[in-house]
Amino acid sequence: MTLYGKRILIIIAGGIAAYKTLELIRRLKDDGASVRAVLTKAGREFVTPLSVSALTEDKVYAELFDLTDEAEMGHIELSRDADLVVVAPATADLLAKMAAGLADDLASTVLLATDKPVLVAPAMNVRMWEHAATRRNMATLMDDGIAVVGPNSGAMACGEFGPGRMAEPAEIRAAIGDLLAGGAKPLAGRHVLITSGPTFEPIDPVRYIANRSSGRQGHAIAAAAAALGARVTLVSGPVAIADPAGVTVVRVETAAEMLAACEAALPADAAVCAAAVADWHVLDQAAEKLKKGSNAGLPTLRFGENPDILTTIANHSSARPELVIGFAAETENVVGHAREKLARKGCDWIVANDVSPETGIMGGADNSVHLVTGEAVEDWPKLAKEEVAARLAARIAAALDAAG
Ligand SMILES: Cc1cc2nc3c(=O)[nH]c(=O)nc-3n(C[C@H](O)[C@H](O)[C@H](O)COP(=O)(O)O)c2cc1C
Repeated sequence: MTLYGKRILIIIAGGIAAYKTLELIRRLKDDGASVRAVLTKAGREFVTPLSVSALTEDKVYAELFDLTDEAEMGHIELSRDADLVVVAPATADLLAKMAAGLADDLASTVLLATDKPVLVAPAMNVRMWEHAATRRNMATLMDDGIAVVGPNSGAMACGEFGPGRMAEPAEIRAAIGDLLAGGAKPLAGRHVLITSGPTFEPIDPVRYIANRSSGRQGHAIAAAAAALGARVTLVSGPVAIADPAGVTVVRVETAAEMLAACEAALPADAAVCAAAVADWHVLDQAAEKLKKGSNAGLPTLRFGENPDILTTIANHSSARPELVIGFAAETENVVGHAREKLARKGCDWIVANDVSPETGIMGGADNSVHLVTGEAVEDWPKLAKEEVAARLAARIAAALDAAG
């Protein structure tokens, strides 16, 4: 949508990603919006008021106790004289203040005083993002109706890798457009956890046991849930496909890592376990590459059972999602096995598909699934994986809505 005539208040907090906010302001101005900016004290360490002011073509607001500002545009007026408040980058600190309702500087006071929609674009080190305190604060903010864009996964300025990178200016611009368009999205305010792809179970430092999962179905579900407004955490095994936009991607290799990442991502309103998780891992992994022709002869692999991620989430004592959905990849008696799996694992729905090689489903573009919900079984026609994902996301939204 066009932003012509829209008034956007941008709060720039103290994170490295603040430089990207300058680009965001430029884009918003190009799109016809008028932009006003508040810089936190820490934000001023990362971008200068002069740069921000040159781009907004306005003065920059920084101090709560500024008599001139209070005379011209008081903090309450500042918080209301906008169609939308955007916090970019949203630091761990400012998110914590927002969740707690603190108001000890201009940014936090404006955020507490506003009656306008608020969009946050979190940006921080991966450990800060995954910390239990930040997860609690995000859950609180989402319950409060705060909209979230990102963060994305990738290499970070601090040298680490993982979720925590601020969404790109284009993604934030798109989220602003969506919010101002006012179309209530059915999964807005919901957190959906999705697993996708295969797991790799190492044999030695260079060899591993894997499976043929491409991640296409799980990634498509993540994209579909995000399109319906959910905050999505996608825990993905190694795949060769791109990350869906606007989704927090956590990359893992083994089943044990996948479980740990899922538990770290809870609480969630819904969990969709679409990953093809290895049932077994190799015991006594070799620390060095196994050598051909060694005196020991042919190696013998011994297996240990992997944790069951779906069962663990579905029976979580403190943070079981409202809706837990598993995938069953079967090569025969697809619905029968799916029903049995539903009962055994304690999940709510099973999406069952026939992955016999002749179906071409594993790694292919289409999927033909049966949705098993308790006693009922729906046979869906053969559809593109994106279409299966869109239908499933809509069903998740309806089920969460019905549950209240
Ligand atoms: C070099 C440097 C980079 C930082 N980057 C971030 C960041 O990306 N995200 C974050 O949450 N905090 C970051 N911090 C810490 C915040 O600046 C600090 O928590 C500050 O108190 C935030 O204040 P504010 O929320 O009022 O802007 C960084 C600190 C330094 C010194």
